[in-house]
Amino acid sequence: MSPKNYLGSFYILFVCLFGINLFRLVWTSDIARYDYYRVYHVELSTQQHVALFQQLEEKSDSCTFFGHARHPKQKLTIMVAAHKVADFADLLQTYDIKYDVLSYNFQEIIDRNLAEVLSKDIDPKSMDWKHYFHLETIYSWMNFLVQEHPNDLAIINIGESAQGIPIKGISLKKNKKDNATTIFIESGIHAREWIAPATTNYIINELLSSNETEVQRLAENYNWIILPIVNPDGYKYTFEGDRMWRKNRELFGICRGVDLNRNFPFHWNSTGSSGDPCRYDYSGPSAASEMETKQLIKFLQENLILNNIKTFISLHSYSQMIMFPYGHTADHVENYDDLSAIGRKASEKIKQVSGRIYKSGSIYEIIYPSSGGSKDWAHGELKIPITFSFELRGPPDSKDLFILPAAEIESTAQEAFAAIMTIIEESESRGYYS
Ligand SMILES: *[C@@H]1O[C@H](CO)[C@@H](O)[C@H](O)[C@H]1NC(C)=O
Ligand SMILES: *[C@@H]1O[C@H](CO)[C@@H](O)[C@H](O)[C@H]1NC(C)=O
Ligand SMILES: *[C@@H]1O[C@H](CO)[C@@H](O)[C@H](O)[C@H]1NC(C)=O
Ligand SMILES: [Zn+2]
Repeated sequence: MSPKNYLGSFYILFVCLFGINLFRLVWTSDIARYDYYRVYHVELSTQQHVALFQQLEEKSDSCTFFGHARHPKQKLTIMVAAHKVADFADLLQTYDIKYDVLSYNFQEIIDRNLAEVLSKDIDPKSMDWKHYFHLETIYSWMNFLVQEHPNDLAIINIGESAQGIPIKGISLKKNKKDNATTIFIESGIHAREWIAPATTNYIINELLSSNETEVQRLAENYNWIILPIVNPDGYKYTFEGDRMWRKNRELFGICRGVDLNRNFPFHWNSTGSSGDPCRYDYSGPSAASEMETKQLIKFLQENLILNNIKTFISLHSYSQMIMFPYGHTADHVENYDDLSAIGRKASEKIKQVSGRIYKSGSIYEIIYPSSGGSKDWAHGELKIPITFSFELRGPPDSKDLFILPAAEIESTAQEAFAAIMTIIEESESRGYYS
């Protein structure tokens, strides 16, 4: 054996050992994996297709639906477990259903995404818009900001989650007048939608450090209350358990989790939610049953008048939409015409900023019926007049689903903040804040 070959075998041996260890790590860890899970985008052409897919969702927990089958001409995204791919392909062929395969191995998308997360113990000053961050990092970053801006910024803690994690945010008060209007933003109510807290963090940073005069004006004329992660238990679980987790982590027998955005006490459990704790859109055992929901309700009730909250924004992903109430009915809210015009302006703004198309309209009209969402409650019950929720990037047929590449964080956050600024300017000029 020549010295070169000799070294070569060592190298191969090293790679093998290391590789085996790596495999052992992967296969013995308790983290959910999606190797060779396929993501399909199907088009339900007929009523028969709709009925079939309703039955499939009911029967199969190997097919994860993102949305429910409701009507012909509907497009639907479904993730199919590796062992069900043949059956599913057969179903599509048998009933002549049109489809695209968006991903042949969803784990690759998750692996790429996990490589974009910075370690838990980094210096919070290294927060940026090119990576995703653990809950702990986001919380220590907020503490760091408060140390840097002690006169304008404070940590708020609205109470604990089901598993005892404090739900923290920041309050930015440059305007010391008693009657200044407050803009309220919440995100991270759905655990896996990481782009939402990432966008919120970007907005906090802009409000504190942007040199643009219009951003500075909005930071000074308005007070801001911002909660990046309303569902901290779920957010943590997307890092430590299942990247695709959506709900909180409350226990119900063999399944966990209430969809917090179906748990608010306004037409609760009336449509577009499930009574089954094993489903992704479980509305909970009763209205406002969950700790996280209760804390948010209590905080908003206490601060509505005290802080003059006139605008409520909630951030989600994906689908590129700007939506206003209601979700449970096609009936119009009393300021429908204003919200509709404001939403349209906000989506035009995004088109100017990045060229991206965001659809705007009421939730019921443009996405699907749902009930018990935070913004329906904020508008319907608390009477906060300007209430919007965003579905951020990607587009409705995105192959990444909720797992937006980190390279798109900054541009997504920029366009969302531009749209939020437009919402405020338009509401201002319509007299909502005077
Ligand atoms: C704002 O201006 C300061 C001082 O001129 C500069 O150091 C900083 O980089 C600017 N920030 C941005 C975001 O452009
Ligand atoms: C919620 O609605 C579902 C479907 O209509 C129903 O089966 C369930 O019992 C309801 N939950 C409660 C607690 O009323
Ligand atoms: C807020 O209070 C100031 C006086 O403190 C008053 O001049 C101003 O008109 C008030 N603004 C609103 C929107 O009520
Ligand atoms: Zn969501």
